[in-house]
Amino acid sequence: MFKILHNVLSAEECAEMRNQLQQGTWIEGAATAGALAKQVKQNLQLDDQDPIAKRLSQQVEQRLLANPDFISSALPNRFYPPKFNLYQHGGFYGAHVDNALLTNPYSGEKLRADLSATLFLNAPESYVGGELQIDTGMGVQEIKLPAGDLILYDSGALHQVLPVTEGQRIASFMWVQSLIADSKARSLLNQLDQTIQNLRRERDDRVQDENVLQLTELYHNLLRYWSQTG
Ligand code: NI
Repeated sequence: MFKILHNVLSAEECAEMRNQLQQGTWIEGAATAGALAKQVKQNLQLDDQDPIAKRLSQQVEQRLLANPDFISSALPNRFYPPKFNLYQHGGFYGAHVDNALLTNPYSGEKLRADLSATLFLNAPESYVGGELQIDTGMGVQEIKLPAGDLILYDSGALHQVLPVTEGQRIASFMWVQSLIADSKARSLLNQLDQTIQNLRRERDDRVQDENVLQLTELYHNLLRYWSQTG
């Protein structure tokens, strides 16, 4: 899965978040990296234990859970609480794959990382570099999005953040355990859901359409068949 979601946060929400982040406690990102990633990681992360981090993390999670596009694409089961990072002065994160298994730092709950997401919080024009390069298996995609937009991609994909040589790149990042572990199956469900939504819009939504009803039944039964809620 490789998907861009636009306007997850408004410009005002991003500005307010950046304001609050300025007052946060930032630590070296390498401190939280695994042994291999440590050598290639040079950025700052907001300290998980900072009350600002907890509050903003909840805010991002709530906004995502209220976003129909996100729900349809990710089919989230569990979240690794959104974190925040900052790249500046040539900071970068070299090629790596995210850990498969994670522990929620607040609840101790274990989760499997199916999807990784980056929510961009400041304007791409305000910094040089900082592209997120993702090896999709069908070529490398270079991602640098407007503030408030989010990229969702498979956690198993090799990726890196290129050096930020001017300005600051501020973002939130997170992992999601999906109800559907298999990326292909999840994409098929997302495609089916989009088609049903389009049909509903195209036809009169107030009238019960037999074909739309049957497709909806198919969607829910596939979800029932494939989902893992554990
Ligand atoms: Ni990563």
